[in-house]
Amino acid sequence: MASFDKDSLSNTFIVAVGICLVCSVIVSGIAVALKPQQQLNRELDQKQNILRAAGMLPADSNVDAQGRTVDELFAEFEVRVVDLTTGEYLDDIDPSTFDPIKAARAPETSMALSAEQDIATLRRRENASEVYIMRGEQGIEKLVLPVRGYGLWGTMFGYLALDADLQTISGLGYYNHKETPGLGGEVDNPRWKAAWAGVQLFDSAGQPDVRLVKRRSEASLPAANYEVDALSGATFTTRGVQNMVNFWTGELGFGPFIQRLKPSA
Ligand SMILES: Cc1cc2nc3c(=O)[nH]c(=O)nc-3n(C[C@H](O)[C@H](O)[C@H](O)COP(=O)(O)O)c2cc1C
Repeated sequence: MASFDKDSLSNTFIVAVGICLVCSVIVSGIAVALKPQQQLNRELDQKQNILRAAGMLPADSNVDAQGRTVDELFAEFEVRVVDLTTGEYLDDIDPSTFDPIKAARAPETSMALSAEQDIATLRRRENASEVYIMRGEQGIEKLVLPVRGYGLWGTMFGYLALDADLQTISGLGYYNHKETPGLGGEVDNPRWKAAWAGVQLFDSAGQPDVRLVKRRSEASLPAANYEVDALSGATFTTRGVQNMVNFWTGELGFGPFIQRLKPSA
């Protein structure tokens, strides 16, 4: 009987391939098994970001002051998809499966923006987007809108929340950006974020006019209501933030939808 040579080239190869196969099956199995949990974590993260932008969840906690959890708080929101051109609801699109970024890539579900229109550097804007609405006895209490736009190093993704009057900003928060920590990354600084609450959005002509300024106007002047401190040493990020807020609340963004929602409209 021929003896088994465990050091032969072919046997070494077979053992190596066998080990690789076993390992890859284990790794793939774990990846597949964890997928639902990863999806749940992504959804929880998104809910937290929306609630934080709306000022309903502290930055350092997963429950509010009354101990309500993220899911309990988020249940107060109605999630809808709106047609950005008409501002009407699109009830045939399921918000849970709708992907605005994918929609923005396809010519049939988005529009190309001209250089003049494209202040947020998007190139294309999706035809529809999801919105998060919280209603109370008096009508709308909060409206949260997804916003995105280019900073210095890449696209910044966040949520802008408006108060019941749909004129006053309640908060702005980013959940994904590539800006430099300490410079553009200061968009995550809680002190800077807190300064957004109360900022006015639309000017007397109904156009969004938020300004990020190096020196704020005298508090007594009307202009002060529209101003937020610029980020020092981060002119490009600052400009990106200003442009994305004004783009997404303007005529090419959620402007038509906001107008439709206003009680007087
Ligand atoms: C390593 C490095 C990282 C930077 N990161 C940012 C950034 O995240 N956002 C930004 O606007 N500028 C960033 N800058 C600075 C810009 O290049 C530019 O100098 C700055 O925006 C000018 O802003 P200022 O007029 O407020 O000084 C960075 C510069 C360097 C060298």
